[in-house]
Amino acid sequence: MVEDLVRQDERAYLDFCGGLRYYSGKWSADLQQAYERGARRFEAAEGRAPSTLEDAHRILDHQPLMQSYMRIQRTSQEMNWRQTVDAASRQADELEAAMRAAEERVPGRLFLDPNFVYPDYYWKVDFHLQPGGMARSPLAGYINYIGVEANQKGITGLPAEENKRKFVLAAPAPPDGVVRRVLDVGCAIGWTTWPLKERFPHAEVWGIDMSAPLLRFAHYLAVERGIDVKYAQMAAEAMTFPDNSFDMIHAHILYHEIPAAVGEKIMHEAFRVLRPGGVYAISDFKTGTRRTPFEEYRSEWSYRDNPEPYAAEFVAFDLLGAFRRAGFVDVKEEPVLNLSMRSGVKPA
Ligand SMILES: C[S@@+](CC[C@H](N)C(=O)[O-])C[C@H]1O[C@@H](n2cnc3c(N)ncnc32)[C@H](O)[C@@H]1O
Repeated sequence: MVEDLVRQDERAYLDFCGGLRYYSGKWSADLQQAYERGARRFEAAEGRAPSTLEDAHRILDHQPLMQSYMRIQRTSQEMNWRQTVDAASRQADELEAAMRAAEERVPGRLFLDPNFVYPDYYWKVDFHLQPGGMARSPLAGYINYIGVEANQKGITGLPAEENKRKFVLAAPAPPDGVVRRVLDVGCAIGWTTWPLKERFPHAEVWGIDMSAPLLRFAHYLAVERGIDVKYAQMAAEAMTFPDNSFDMIHAHILYHEIPAAVGEKIMHEAFRVLRPGGVYAISDFKTGTRRTPFEEYRSEWSYRDNPEPYAAEFVAFDLLGAFRRAGFVDVKEEPVLNLSMRSGVKPA
């Protein structure tokens, strides 16, 4: 397994990066108190309470605790990727050989599109500072696998696989209980695809993603783990599946990484490829909640410094409305861990 290719010193370094991120994430209450102290001074000086993002900048930009927090979060992320890219580059030949061997050993489960044109909104962004973004490096799959693991632990304290499984298990199944074909949209290296197969072992499970390097690694991992899933390279806003071909579709943390207009198109595509009575479930950031200037400040910083350039439009996006505009019924939302699960059913 390629996991074994990460040396112990590299693993310890990555654990340290995740630990730094996780423990600085626990400063939230102290940051909030620092903001409140600053807000009282602001009010005494200005004769009004702070009410805008601009006010929050005036209170927090020079606050040492906030400065330390932001630097630790950013630096731990940069260190994480640097170490991951070093480990990947050191064993580039082994990784390429492992992916090629999996493709030869188990053909017919990985469908790449040699003519695929990546849209700019995706190609040009180094999401979460991942060097080369999701698709520009041939080793992006391995880099994502190792780097996201450390990053996830830094956010939730849970291993990525365990965290993601909870969302797949919470996604609603179709009301009639019939699940023969399942689709994981924006599947990356398969963390959300494997638990779908585990949950519906008799169903044909597909994962789609735009990134060929992610999908090649996803296929390698599935073959290594003996998981029978299919992967295809396509844009979710222009799927090549026929109408009415899935019983259930799940998208985990995809929507906040795409422009809202693309999210709206994907909603219509999901409606088209679901069979009547099928269900579409999206787990992602909470949206539509009124935010305090302090919360806006923290989100603005996080979206910019750990690049997620479309997240601000996403949190302002009427996602439940988008379900209804596409034709879904029984549209609902419920909290799952730190995120929100929304779903809608295609009328039978
Ligand atoms: C944050 S990752 C989530 C991956 C996976 N669901 C998980 O939780 O591990 C979002 C994924 O969506 C993919 N993606 C982004 N835009 C897409 C689009 N328009 N069509 C298909 N995949 C897309 C990215 O390549 C990335 O792998």
